[in-house]
This record gives sequence, structure tokens and C-alpha cells, in this order.
Amino acid sequence: MKNNIILIGYMGCGKTSLGKKLSYKERIALLDTDKMIEQKQGMTVSEIFDEKGEGAFRVMETECLKEIMGYSEKYVISVGGGLPVKEENRELLKELGSVVYLRAKPDTIFERLKNDTSRPLLRGDDPKGKIESMIKQRGPVYELAADCIVDVDEKGYEVIIGEILEALKGSGK
Ligand code: S3P
Repeated sequence: MKNNIILIGYMGCGKTSLGKKLSYKERIALLDTDKMIEQKQGMTVSEIFDEKGEGAFRVMETECLKEIMGYSEKYVISVGGGLPVKEENRELLKELGSVVYLRAKPDTIFERLKNDTSRPLLRGDDPKGKIESMIKQRGPVYELAADCIVDVDEKGYEVIIGEILEALKGSGK
């Protein structure tokens, strides 16, 4: 098993865009669990939530990690914001490589996602309140799953990428 670089964190923290930049910079191919699931199902994440339910999506996430466990190449892996909530998934992530938590404040997330329609969990009233309470709940879980933490608020991509690479060196994996 190669020491993959895994990006975790709340929706809108930059996992996908930073994953792409990191993948390009380090010349390591990129995997994205949401994209893998969408391709396999032939549906968007929103459609899966609507037609099959969140529970079915959570099962798909664990199956996706197990599939990646069988890959022999090293990857940058961006995972869905809710994936580390399940203990089984956190254990699989630790086995898969170095886990970087991209930590963002609720205000940062709200500013980035206020016009986004692709996140089923943020639909409806009071998205800001939802973001605040979910981050309060999930923050400690992300910390538990992480080998290192990088704060992303008010920083440009280049700075964050530099901090990720620095943090990985110190992560001891
Ligand atoms: C979710 C995050 C989403 C996606 C799904 C559920 C979550 O991924 O997996 O909408 O529970 O936080 P991103 O973090 O890439 O937006």
C-alpha cells in the first residue's frame, strides 16, 4: 500500500480544488470519492440522496474506500465531507495514507457555498446555522481522523499547498 495523501474537511474547505493543484504539483494522480461514486452510479450526489437516500450514499462511500485499498499506485485523494464521520471509514483512511484536515471557519464556508446548489445537506432554511452546527459536531471528528491540520481561512492556494507539504513531512507517516 502506497502512502496516499488524503484531504478531508467540511464541504467548501477546498478539498477538490486543492486536491487538483496538489496532484498537478506533485505529479500524483487524483481520486475524488464523490466523483467515483457519481461515475459508478451514473447519478449526481444530489440525485443519489434524493432517490436512494443518505444511508445508501454512506454505504457507497465505505465501498469506495475499500476499492481504493486495492489500488497499488499512490494518489492524492479528496473525500466527501461526511465520509470521516463513520469510524470504519476513519480506520480505512488511516490505512490508506496521510490524512490532512483542511480546517475552515463556518463564515469562510458560508461565503463560499451561499450560492451553491450541489450540496443536498445544505438545502432549505438557515444554511449558515446548519454549517455552524455541523462544523461544531464534525470538527472534533475530523481532528480525530487527521494526521495533520492545515487552516485554510484567508490564504491563497500556493500558501496552503506549501503548508500541506510541510505538514506531511512532519506527520511521521
Ligand atoms: C457531504 C459532502 C459532500 C458530498 C455529500 C455529503 C457531507 O462532499 O459527499 O453532499 O456530508 O458533508 P464535499 O465535501 O466534497 O462537498
